[in-house]
Amino acid sequence: MAIIGTDIDKAKTLLQQGEAVGIPTETVYGLAANAFDPLAVAKIFAIKNRPVFDPLIVHVASYQQALTVADFSPVAQRLAHAFWPGPLTLVLPKKAMVPDLVTSGLTTVGVRSPRHPMALALLQALPFPLAAPSANPFGYVSPTTAQHVHDQLGDKLSYILDGGPSAVGVESTIVGFEGGETVIYRVGGVSVEALEQEIGGVRLALHASSNPKAPGQLLSHYAPRKRVTLQSLSSFTSEQLSRMGALVFRLPAEGIPLKNQVVLSPAGDLAEAAQNLFSALRKFDGLDVSLVWAEAVPEEGLGRAINDRLRRAAHPA
Ligand code: TXA
Ligand code: MG
Repeated sequence: MAIIGTDIDKAKTLLQQGEAVGIPTETVYGLAANAFDPLAVAKIFAIKNRPVFDPLIVHVASYQQALTVADFSPVAQRLAHAFWPGPLTLVLPKKAMVPDLVTSGLTTVGVRSPRHPMALALLQALPFPLAAPSANPFGYVSPTTAQHVHDQLGDKLSYILDGGPSAVGVESTIVGFEGGETVIYRVGGVSVEALEQEIGGVRLALHASSNPKAPGQLLSHYAPRKRVTLQSLSSFTSEQLSRMGALVFRLPAEGIPLKNQVVLSPAGDLAEAAQNLFSALRKFDGLDVSLVWAEAVPEEGLGRAINDRLRRAAHPA
């Protein structure tokens, strides 16, 4: 069984020995291993039960270290300088140093420098970058606490570094470059508005249905155990409502028992709602409901990432 602790040296030692370790980031918890060691990276895929066609993000301590794994265009450099360390992943031409297993054989690699102080301290202490997907079984909602990681992967890991609840709460925004265009593959912790303010227009390419560039684009990704619906509440009878759960933005929904409801942000703050989103989805696993009604939040700022995850959670597998 995994130990949960705050010992960065211990995490460092395990990673140097080629083990996979649970680590905190500001977005969600990651399952990390030496990005330059294919055997260590293979453990990530095995532990998560993740298909090998789904590439991993390489986490770096700095822009300097990122230059050892990827080629940066002027726009990419600009974005890194504006948003790193932070919840932005850049998909760039990969350098030969990066094993094919990390990128699933693609010629590109996803790179990000996380903002969490413990993750950064760990990366700075290591002589290699860390490949890390979210630390959840493939297809399930991402973990935002060390305990979430322990609940699902504790029997397959020896150590989980505890950095407290993730401050952002949704995964990084993934950006790539096609022709002269900047393309968003996954909306996340850096808003579309913030990106556009920095570099002008971007194109959204989120809903690839087959052969997606990023499996995070798969419609049925991020599913919790309970069925989620975004259908209008008026389509349910009061009898149905009395047995449902609800995930709401600021106010409880009428007709659904209060004990079955989770409010994301009573103050109506999208950052707080994002922070609480995945914990909230997990809460329904332990409630006696079979269907959860989710309320969409305003489609702006972090609200886009929240609605995106809700739509995917609601999509039948
Ligand atoms: O916030 C995050 O990004 C978290 C933390 C741990 O950093 N990580 C995360 O990793 O969400 P993961 O593996 O759960 O999701 C990464 C997504 C996957 O959908 C993957 O397909 C995509 O990034 N990705 C990675 N490398 C890529 C590449 N070269 N081209 C296109 N998509 C890529
Ligand atoms: Mg994931």
